Amino acid sequence: MGCWFLFMLPLAMANLEPFALPPGFEGTWQGVPYASVVGPWSENFTFSITRIPQGDYLFQANLPFDASPEFRQYWSWQRSYLRVSGEDRGRLLHCPGPRDPKRLRVAMMQAHAVGPREVTFCLRKWPGYIDSEHPFPFKTLGCYTAGPEEGCGCFNWTLRVDESGTTLDYQVSMAGSPLRQHSKHVWATLKRVPYVATVDLHFPGPGGHFDCDYTHRDEHQTPLASCPFALYYRPPAESSTVARSTFEHCYNLDAKVGLVLEWDLDEKASLLHVQISALAEAADYVSVGFRPLGGSSSGEARRAGTGREQRFGMRGADIVLGHSASSADSAGVERYYASAYSGAPGPDESLEIWNASVERRGGRIALEFRRPLVSGYLFAKHGINASILSDLSDMMWAVGRWDEANQVPSYHGALRGWREVNWTDPEFDSRPLLSLRPYRCGMVLYP
Ligand SMILES: *[C@@H]1O[C@H](CO)[C@@H](O)[C@H](O)[C@H]1NC(C)=O
Ligand SMILES: *[C@@H]1O[C@H](CO)[C@@H](O)[C@H](O)[C@H]1NC(C)=O
Ligand SMILES: *[C@@H]1O[C@H](CO)[C@@H](O)[C@H](O)[C@H]1NC(C)=O
Ligand SMILES: *[C@@H]1O[C@H](CO)[C@@H](O)[C@H](O)[C@H]1NC(C)=O
Ligand SMILES: *[C@@H]1O[C@H](CO)[C@@H](O)[C@H](O)[C@H]1NC(C)=O
Repeated sequence: MGCWFLFMLPLAMANLEPFALPPGFEGTWQGVPYASVVGPWSENFTFSITRIPQGDYLFQANLPFDASPEFRQYWSWQRSYLRVSGEDRGRLLHCPGPRDPKRLRVAMMQAHAVGPREVTFCLRKWPGYIDSEHPFPFKTLGCYTAGPEEGCGCFNWTLRVDESGTTLDYQVSMAGSPLRQHSKHVWATLKRVPYVATVDLHFPGPGGHFDCDYTHRDEHQTPLASCPFALYYRPPAESSTVARSTFEHCYNLDAKVGLVLEWDLDEKASLLHVQISALAEAADYVSVGFRPLGGSSSGEARRAGTGREQRFGMRGADIVLGHSASSADSAGVERYYASAYSGAPGPDESLEIWNASVERRGGRIALEFRRPLVSGYLFAKHGINASILSDLSDMMWAVGRWDEANQVPSYHGALRGWREVNWTDPEFDSRPLLSLRPYRCGMVLYP
């Protein structure tokens, strides 16, 4: 029996047909993500699938995050390597760019659900994988085993081409609370564009060499971040830019809904004076959430219901919301705490706020308030003295419709985003997404 097994397994491996993507996937694809972790985009995202002579596939993407070509150095990039045979057959090595030099990020996925026109890749742990270092709710939602296939409940990436071969659905989802939608990480409908992406690199080797190389190969932007794709850009509509702000800091976080974040920081008084506003046509509520330990991998953060595992969900956020429906006298400011990864947050007054107001003016809805740097659910309920100025802090925003009858916010859908904001010095970091420099208010992008 033992011999039979020893003999059969390698033979079975050798006999497997090489993995193949549906025909029609290869090519270059372009479209504007209507949902993403940082909010809906206004600019194109470009993605290519190329088959290399050995039969393996290379995926390349550019991620301008709506930053104008002037800020091309801030654009992010991604490269993924799909092996079709051998021990890594059907495995996708994903290299999302070394945004943090201390964390040379690598992800591994496995192809599942391969149909005639679609494939789904799901998260795959590798030997030595440390759950707490990755942004997935393994413990709190058991996401690794919750999906129809291993890993799919934490992260799944579906690519689906239409019958004519001209449209590609690109859908990356993170986890979701039970009976709730999964968090849409990047969802876009892409159109085929007549461009052949170059493959100017050595595909990573098998086994232990199947790894990202941030010292050379994966340290650079993809060819899709240069011409011709770097040429097209439409500056945001006039109405979504704020030319002059009375606050010291002012950034256009999302052009689609005209989301502007403004603040003054008083470190001596340990106070943040913040205003968040959006186009009134997009919303009658605007909200902001703070997570002082949103990036923490510590046991303390996890036990308190926050931290890195909740990163792409809402859990752990103190939320302030301002609504102003048709009648001005029904305007109000509400406070919530998100105790679930996805789904509506619950009323909670742990976060102290002062002088809060919400108003409509100039076609915009604006919420303004002051908050202490240390406050909220973590401090009030767990006695954790964590400041939003810490390097683990993150923030989120959402806009939507106010349900007047039930006095609750309606689901924001894709009109929401997540960011790491350096409240002290928002342009300090020059790495993609971490600096707000490309989004500063009142800039003349194209004279
Ligand atoms: C996105 O690219 C398509 C061509 O692939 C183009 O028609 C469209 O105008 C672009 N959209 C933006 C916002 O640049
Ligand atoms: C991927 O996630 C979506 C939710 O966004 C879910 O409907 C689908 O079943 C998942 N696919 C797999 C293979 O798990
Ligand atoms: C709130 O407003 C009042 C009156 O304008 C002012 O006296 C007070 O200092 C403000 N509170 C904070 C924390 O700024
Ligand atoms: C939190 O700790 C800092 C020192 O790390 C201290 O200055 C501050 O007063 C503390 N805040 C609260 C609210 O306890
Ligand atoms: C914010 O920027 C300052 C530089 O002015 C830097 O020292 C600090 O570490 C940054 N904070 C975060 C959270 O990145």
